[in-house]
Amino acid sequence: MRNGTALITGASGGLGLEFAKLCAKDGYDLVLTARSEDKLLRIKHDLEQEYGITVYVCPCDLSETDAAVDVFDFTLEHDLTIDILINNAGFGVSGSFADSGWERQYDLIQVNITSLIQLTHCFLKGMLSRGKGKILNLSSVAAFCAGPDMSVYYASKAFVRSFSEALSEETKGTGVTVTALCPGPTATGFEKAASGSELNMFKNAGDPAGTALIGYQAMMRGKELCYPGRTAKLMDLGSRISPRSISRKIAAKMNH
Ligand SMILES: NC(=O)c1ccc[n+]([C@@H]2O[C@H](COP(=O)([O-])OP(=O)(O)OC[C@H]3O[C@@H](n4cnc5c(N)ncnc54)[C@H](OP(=O)(O)O)[C@@H]3O)[C@@H](O)[C@H]2O)c1
Repeated sequence: MRNGTALITGASGGLGLEFAKLCAKDGYDLVLTARSEDKLLRIKHDLEQEYGITVYVCPCDLSETDAAVDVFDFTLEHDLTIDILINNAGFGVSGSFADSGWERQYDLIQVNITSLIQLTHCFLKGMLSRGKGKILNLSSVAAFCAGPDMSVYYASKAFVRSFSEALSEETKGTGVTVTALCPGPTATGFEKAASGSELNMFKNAGDPAGTALIGYQAMMRGKELCYPGRTAKLMDLGSRISPRSISRKIAAKMNH
């Protein structure tokens, strides 16, 4: 049975691919975006074969200005109503801020923040007018404290959590829900994209399928915040009871 259409950013691998599988299994048609068109086409083939749904591939670089509007226009051109928006695309930049390249930090802000809020802005009005819709935004345990040697990434995830929480309140009673998912370290392509080497925090990284399932279920239930697994729950608790001077030192150790 067709349930509607879900749009997932960063769907070429990692958590995004897991969200795509979960939506497909529940009978949603999919709009998948990422830069890697070849990977998206392979995923389209596999999911259409396995679940009998329709998958639309919309390759795009979300670091580019107004890329979110191009994605929105793609859905209009294909006459698609988006019932679920999963703002999953994102990456980190590891190392000292002073030594980092500005372009990479700028792209991080564009992908993790600007495109996420622009996509939300594009699709939210339609969802509100239909009185129905679900938005899942990828934050992180990085939202809980300051993150030396990954400063802009941690700040971007704090932004996403704060923005999502505010929207979840603004949309109360409308039929539209907004969920912020805050996973701990998870075994995806994230570590390699962020640093190219091994980081302490990824020694006991969680499984992406399990993390995505918990986030997906939280979105379906309309929960405002979701901390999947014991590590994320402990990190949330730790950040609330320990002084910020301590939590940022612990984060600095984990980011090496
Ligand atoms: N893994 C973790 O430990 C962890 C923990 C907490 C939160 N998160 C968050 O979870 C989300 C998914 O990350 P992941 O762990 O699954 O990492 P991943 O395996 O590296 O996947 C990242 C996805 O984002 C896409 N992406 C990256 N840059 C992009 C750009 N400029 N334009 C469009 N798409 C882009 C990538 O596709 P292309 O390369 O094909 O463009 C890929 O599909 C991110 O927001 C991340 O911050 C991850």
